[in-house]
Amino acid sequence: MKIVVIGGSGLIGSKLVKRLREHGHEAVAASPDSGVNTLTGEGLAAALTGASVVVDVSNSPSFEDAAVLKFFETSTRNLLTNGAAAGVGHHVALSVVGTDRLLESGYFRAKIVQEKLIKESSIPYSIVHATQFFEFVKSIAAAATEGDTVRLPPVFIQPMAADDVASAVARIAVGKPVNGTVEVAGPERFRLDELIRRGLRAGKDPREVVADPEARYFGAKLGELTLVPGDDARLGETRFDDWLRQPTTTTVSRATSGTPGVGSVATAKP
Ligand SMILES: NC(=O)c1ccc[n+]([C@@H]2O[C@H](COP(=O)([O-])OP(=O)(O)OC[C@H]3O[C@@H](n4cnc5c(N)ncnc54)[C@H](OP(=O)(O)O)[C@@H]3O)[C@@H](O)[C@H]2O)c1
Repeated sequence: MKIVVIGGSGLIGSKLVKRLREHGHEAVAASPDSGVNTLTGEGLAAALTGASVVVDVSNSPSFEDAAVLKFFETSTRNLLTNGAAAGVGHHVALSVVGTDRLLESGYFRAKIVQEKLIKESSIPYSIVHATQFFEFVKSIAAAATEGDTVRLPPVFIQPMAADDVASAVARIAVGKPVNGTVEVAGPERFRLDELIRRGLRAGKDPREVVADPEARYFGAKLGELTLVPGDDARLGETRFDDWLRQPTTTTVSRATSGTPGVGSVATAKP
């Protein structure tokens, strides 16, 4: 099958393209660097010609409220219009567990708009809701840092390795469209402050992590279960401590800023 991966150069996208190719699919990595820009529409029609499946694992380069909304709204419209014209039979998009419970944040309001456009389109679809990537720990810490203290509410979180996210998305992309949402998550639950404390310690980061029930998560107030999936979630295998020990894991070091959806240690931005 020809499968176009929008955001194919990103953290999840690059792993996904590799997996799909290993399984014999013609996976096309599409991003502005390869001449495909979903925001402007450049290169989109040509990239989608002959595609059976489109997987959107792109992310907005800017996380300012208006910019992120424009990115997901315009890109998704362009993708769906061009996808329908090309006869794409399955549109898959990666979003976040709890998106509908995080609407105090502009980022998640934009993801909801993306999901709504997909649900209303004529193309059969699967929306994958993943929990926070292990690779995102440093961005969570950065966003919650004041001086040398990281303040986070002690709510539950069930994070997962980016490798497991890519495997789950690959399986869903080659399957039948579910015309609904599938949740994927990690094998263990943590308290948010405890997870970040463990991640920072592993990277020998001296910041103190304080459990503060009033602290916000990227501007949003969290309930005990806001970030965790329901009972039907498909679980990845990789445990956090094992991931921290992997030689390929970059230690969770201090970043200057953090934004939801920017999970890559390798490509941390802005
Ligand atoms: N971080 C988390 O914990 C988490 C949890 C659940 C779900 N998610 C979701 O996972 C998705 C992927 O995240 P990620 O961390 O893998 O992203 P990422 O590493 O930041 O990669 C983003 C990708 O989007 C591409 N892109 C940017 N602008 C584009 C445009 N105009 N047209 C086409 N492609 C464009 C980038 O291309 P360039 O390389 O050329 O810039 C890059 O390939 C996001 O939608 C996010 O909401 C994240």
